Amino acid sequence: MKVLIIGSGGREHALAWKVKQSEQVRQIFLAPGNGGTTTFAENVPINVKDIQKLADFANQNEIDLTIVGPEMPLVAGIVDEFKKRNLRIFGPSQNAALLEGSKVFAKELMAKYDIPTASFRIFDNPDKAVKFVELKNCPMVIKADGLAAGKGVIVCDGKGQARQAIKEIMIKEKFGDAGKKVIIEEKLIGQEASIIALSDGENVLALTPSQDHKQIYDGDKGPNTGGMGAYSPTPVVDREIFNYCVDKIIKRTVLGMKKEGMRFQGVLYAGIMMTEDGPKTLEFNVRFGDPEIQAILPRMKSDLVDLILGTLEGNLADKKIEWSDKTCVCVVMSSGGYPGSYENGKEISGIKEAESLDDIVVFHAGTKKEGQKILTNGGRVLGITGLGKDIKGAIERTYKAVKIISFDNMYYRKDIGLKAF
Ligand code: AMP
Ligand code: GLY
Repeated sequence: MKVLIIGSGGREHALAWKVKQSEQVRQIFLAPGNGGTTTFAENVPINVKDIQKLADFANQNEIDLTIVGPEMPLVAGIVDEFKKRNLRIFGPSQNAALLEGSKVFAKELMAKYDIPTASFRIFDNPDKAVKFVELKNCPMVIKADGLAAGKGVIVCDGKGQARQAIKEIMIKEKFGDAGKKVIIEEKLIGQEASIIALSDGENVLALTPSQDHKQIYDGDKGPNTGGMGAYSPTPVVDREIFNYCVDKIIKRTVLGMKKEGMRFQGVLYAGIMMTEDGPKTLEFNVRFGDPEIQAILPRMKSDLVDLILGTLEGNLADKKIEWSDKTCVCVVMSSGGYPGSYENGKEISGIKEAESLDDIVVFHAGTKKEGQKILTNGGRVLGITGLGKDIKGAIERTYKAVKIISFDNMYYRKDIGLKAF
């Protein structure tokens, strides 16, 4: 089988690494891929947004299966275009991708199908939104409706901050059309966890639970990033909580989507806050989490391609996933300055030495290969991923590998996984 993976991050490297282990797979392409994927797969220089060119490539190269990494092409309708051309692709249709593409759509679905989430109001008028803020006393969260590169959610501790957020989003149109509507919701308190599941439109198969570390600094301080590290499984989600999340959040969402005539086929990822009143949904994504999936796939013993085909063929009910008992930790090494501005082109050393340690994999994200050199080429540069017999062992092993790698002005969090204690 020939497989095309769309994207260039740590998630896509991890997917390609896992897909390569499948006996069904003969050749792997990544569009556009990164400095790590080019060593075992073929990188194709096509942008993830260029849906027509991607479909042309899949057609001309007789790709048997395309796996989409990031949300952008899904929300832009890549799955519909591939299906129109009879090309097999894994991911939700453009309609179903609204679960991530529109937070208003997602919240309305949650309300309609009794899916636990924070209480909320929707506004399309900034004056009314500000009036609502004036009447409220509690801390609030303001969210732009559409995709905003992870920057459209502002957790506000005071009214001034909330008014400012509404102004930035709705009047100054900081995120363009994505800010035509806002959600104002109750601020939830608790630990966050990620539940990522496969759905064939009817049945779901949840992966092992994981926990991301979104903020840039240790102790969850500073601005949000795409994610600075993750580990799996997490004690924050015990068996009972896991079953609750799968039944009351994942399954209800898939069923709701089916009833709405938008069968959800692909990856459904729920960001969930474990509050005193039980788990509540923060958001949905329609793709694998990054870095979460980097800390999940090294524990997966089953064939991912087989699971993906099961999802596409509608027989997930017959599938099971086998997991290793080990714990996996992924530490993201980033360019100093990220999530703000940073410089590219720094030479990275120590990757081979780190990879030679037992139970360590280095997933590349923002890297490129130039001759024999690997250079930085993005905010999140590498995901150093290690397995251990428990969380303590996994943390020790992973940081041992992290310390072998270096590049100018690198940055990483020193506390990945400590939330488990
Ligand atoms: P979202 O894109 O909706 O997941 O929001 C990004 C981040 O904002 C989440 O991972 C949470 O850390 C935070 N967040 C979103 N909604 C809430 C909420 N209602 N209460 C507290 N934090 C929130
Ligand atoms: N790690 C958060 C995300 O993938 O959205």
